[in-house]
Amino acid sequence: MDSQLSRLPAGDSVDPAQVPYRSVYTGAKIPAVGLGTFGSDRFSGEAIAEAVKDAIQSGYRHIDCAAVYGNEHLIGPALREAMMSGVRREELWITSKLWNDKHDEKDVIPACEKSLRDLGLDYLDLYLIHWPFPNYHAPGVDVSSRDPHAKPYIHENYMKTWRQLEKLVEMGLVRHIGTSNMTIPKLKLVLRDARIKPAANEMELHPHFQQPELFKFVVDNGIVPIGFSPIGSPMRPDRDKTPDDTVDIEDPVIVKIAQRLNVHPAVVCIKWAVQRGQVPIPFSVNRDQYVSNLRAAVTDPLTDEEMQAIAGIDKNCRLIKGQVFLWKDNQTWEDLWDVNGEITPA
Ligand SMILES: NC(=O)c1ccc[n+]([C@@H]2O[C@H](COP(=O)([O-])OP(=O)(O)OC[C@H]3O[C@@H](n4cnc5c(N)ncnc54)[C@H](OP(=O)(O)O)[C@@H]3O)[C@@H](O)[C@H]2O)c1
Repeated sequence: MDSQLSRLPAGDSVDPAQVPYRSVYTGAKIPAVGLGTFGSDRFSGEAIAEAVKDAIQSGYRHIDCAAVYGNEHLIGPALREAMMSGVRREELWITSKLWNDKHDEKDVIPACEKSLRDLGLDYLDLYLIHWPFPNYHAPGVDVSSRDPHAKPYIHENYMKTWRQLEKLVEMGLVRHIGTSNMTIPKLKLVLRDARIKPAANEMELHPHFQQPELFKFVVDNGIVPIGFSPIGSPMRPDRDKTPDDTVDIEDPVIVKIAQRLNVHPAVVCIKWAVQRGQVPIPFSVNRDQYVSNLRAAVTDPLTDEEMQAIAGIDKNCRLIKGQVFLWKDNQTWEDLWDVNGEITPA
């Protein structure tokens, strides 16, 4: 503990030992705030890698990566530098994700090995299937773009991919495996058929999109909810914006709490997330911002009244709708999310 503190630069850094954590069913502990690394086509891989290195120096121990973010080869040297400065591998929680064009049984293990090579690691703490659809789209394409070979969710195929993830655990390359962008009916099938059950489900979660049913389902099944776009992703690519989208950090309830605490509304979103019990993974390459986001978990908790007030501003406003994964004409993005409680038929 003392040696850890002495490594930290003076000033606003956060003592990682003070950051709360969530327990995974294996007994492992996942730090309650992670750093996102998707640059939304706006930030360079170099800037993100620099942020990762400094964020670890500033107290972060959880980094959310993915092959499709195209920057793991730059984050690897940043992790190495952080570890050379004394942070032990076991202190870090590193997540990566299998991209949609690597769901084929033969592709899964090589894809994970590539992420490991790029990140310069012997093992990942968590490996997720990024989306439950094997549908490819090139980075940066318009939302109307479709994979000509696009498929719906086919559970049998998903489980073939999952078996390979289970193999990665058996091989010691991955400590935990998990899902992302899932729905309750899909998760029910995975829980029924998995030999190694998901440790975490990464899902969109912010005050205007609280997903109460899925959140409860995940928690009740001993799966850690990891919340992406926890600030409402104000810098998401323009292609992901629609006129009906609402803005969490402009919500009067959030703004009022931010004024009370004299913090940016983004920080209130992080506090709410941590106190609700999900693991937010906010993105920023701006030191003031990412340090504030970690500090949010260790200072000035929201009151019960404030937590209740935020519970009341859910607008069911999904921001990352996933249109590019649709598999046939005349569908709407809601078809991806099984809104009727059943898997949308092929
Ligand atoms: N599993 C999935 O399918 C999936 C999908 C989406 C995202 N993710 C993960 O989730 C991470 C986070 O999501 P996200 O990047 O979409 O959105 P986000 O974290 O909700 O929003 C990030 C933006 O919020 C602003 N911000 C951050 N901290 C702030 C602070 N303290 N004060 C003021 N503004 C602040 C920054 O905007 P400015 O730059 O304008 O200051 C930043 O670019 C991603 O990086 C990625 O790792 C996963």
